[in-house]
Amino acid sequence: MTGESFTAVDVIRTKRDGSRLSDEQIRWVVDAYTRGVVADEQMAALAMAILLRGMDAAETACWTGAMIDSGERLSLRSSRPLVDKHSTGGVGDKITLPLAPLVAACGAAVPQLSGRGLGHTGGTLDKLEAIPGWRAELSTDEISRQLEDVGAVVCATTPTLAPADRKLYALRDVTATVDSVPLIASSIMSKKIAEGVNRLVLDVKTGSGAFMKTREQARELAKTLVEIGAAHGVDTRAVLTAMDTPLGSAVGNAVEVAEAVEVLRGGGPADVVELTVALAREMLALAGLSDADPARVLASGEAYETWCRMIHAQGGDPEAALPEPAHVHVVEAAEEGTMTRLDAYGVGVVAWRLGAGRTRKDDPVQSAAGVRCLVKPGERVEPGRPLFELHTDTPEAVAAVLPTLRAAYDIGGEDTGNGAAPAATEANGGRIVLERVGSDVVG
Ligand code: URA
Repeated sequence: MTGESFTAVDVIRTKRDGSRLSDEQIRWVVDAYTRGVVADEQMAALAMAILLRGMDAAETACWTGAMIDSGERLSLRSSRPLVDKHSTGGVGDKITLPLAPLVAACGAAVPQLSGRGLGHTGGTLDKLEAIPGWRAELSTDEISRQLEDVGAVVCATTPTLAPADRKLYALRDVTATVDSVPLIASSIMSKKIAEGVNRLVLDVKTGSGAFMKTREQARELAKTLVEIGAAHGVDTRAVLTAMDTPLGSAVGNAVEVAEAVEVLRGGGPADVVELTVALAREMLALAGLSDADPARVLASGEAYETWCRMIHAQGGDPEAALPEPAHVHVVEAAEEGTMTRLDAYGVGVVAWRLGAGRTRKDDPVQSAAGVRCLVKPGERVEPGRPLFELHTDTPEAVAAVLPTLRAAYDIGGEDTGNGAAPAATEANGGRIVLERVGSDVVG
């Protein structure tokens, strides 16, 4: 007798054969995996069975609950309405940096428990750590105090939040089982619900630089996320946003902080401003602060003051110079024409290989590494015009990334209809926010 309610083999077989898992099976298998009773190879087989067979809404909600119950729940407190946002990750996605202080400057409290980057998408903490003195690790008390004093906190998640997800995500990463909608959705929502917020806006990216390559997949993920939120009493809305081309001009760490600061000072690229304001509107509506005008607050520089207080509260110096790269390589246009495509995934890979990202979980990152895209789709160029700046402390990395960069953009004639997906930039009239999915608009 093992004293266990089920066996892993029976649970795997149930899903492998296409049947529903019962609530009891789900709670047991997630708990037993966290305790080490279910082995990695058994959970890998179950994750593959789920990827191939799927889980329905009730199974996914129960799986999420089991992952939340594997750890502690924070109870963050603030006298202001708490509201959170999560992005499924993209290239040049520095939106958290201007968004958290903006929404705080409009009267809400924003706890952003964030992660580090892995692969081609950057991590918010890696970006902020480019700021001299800034500290990512805060205690729960420090988070609550800063939420009350400043209204915005961006800090590291704690290891006690949804530990089952931490273990399972690492396993999925090495067993080709990441891209399953129920597994992605339960992974994201277990961490957010464990944080204790009851209002959440999700930025679900779609396009080459996103997990979800097509709009249909992104819509399915968004609906699943919203359903899990509803099942757990979290008021959740999702927006589908374009991630075919990098957001803004900067991709990397210090370069993205610099661009976020431009936005907070009332300038910056139009697409970053558009998405920041759109997400702020969604968050403020959920927080019952629809009268606030985030576009005005951003343009006026009021959000920049909140940013300075937020950075200062975590030991950083918001006025300090950001790290400069040891080497800058400029890539120029070889021909005349219009940039018709700038692929987010390709640019993300280039920034990562220049040193902005990591390959293994504990690798260090270079704060100064990254790419500045000096031309965006829809703009005309002439031979010799600088297209990209490559920033790195390891110049030997440049030659290796140039073929990847060259494959990531096209310069064509006047006609931009070469089959490339239209990039969402102001220059060609594209849009970043594609559609909304929420408890009020799911259809
Ligand atoms: N982000 C997460 O937190 N989990 C996933 O499974 C995918 C993206």
